[in-house]
Amino acid sequence: MPNHAGFILWFTGLSGAGKSTLSEKLVAEFVQRGYKVELLDGDEVRTHLSKGLTFSREDRDTNVRRIGWVARVLARNGVIAVTAAISPYREIRDEIRADVTTEGRTTFVEVYANAPLEALVERDVKGLYKKALAGEIKQFTGVSDPYEPPLSPEVEVYTSTESIEDSANRILNYLAEHHLIGEGA
Ligand code: ADX
Repeated sequence: MPNHAGFILWFTGLSGAGKSTLSEKLVAEFVQRGYKVELLDGDEVRTHLSKGLTFSREDRDTNVRRIGWVARVLARNGVIAVTAAISPYREIRDEIRADVTTEGRTTFVEVYANAPLEALVERDVKGLYKKALAGEIKQFTGVSDPYEPPLSPEVEVYTSTESIEDSANRILNYLAEHHLIGEGA
């Protein structure tokens, strides 16, 4: 198992759509199976690598490109690089995918955490939607800033209607079917 090829598991979706929860669950699963893995979570990256960046389009693009670059470096060295940032712009996600594909040393697997805005506003785990809807936070993704869903993600999970286990299993199945991980635990 230790000599497996790395790949990038790229989560995208609105704030609160379950990217962090799902990615943490998958990371734990990969660790248990003996894989080398790193998690690049948007919230965490913004506390160091992208500290000081805002949520303007330009700064989001910079943030997402940095995450893409680190993920690529990790993955080509045999690490499963899991990323969990909103990454709202299709153009930038596709740019990272194209760079990865051109380099030809690793694989880009895009996972769309799809949950309707109404469900996220209802749940509002961090209390940010309430503030965004009240205009207290500007440029909030899905409320006052764009989110461009992927047109053909490798996997789409429906995080407001299916269980975390089901979403995780569908992702694991995709990876096994494409020989990115071995079958079963
Ligand atoms: S990204 O657009 O640059 O990919 P990233 O995933 O790093 O975003 O950060 C998103 C997190 O920052 C959200 O989950 C939320 O907790 C917080 N946040 C604060 N302000 C905003 C905003 N204006 N839009 C979206 N998320 C925000």
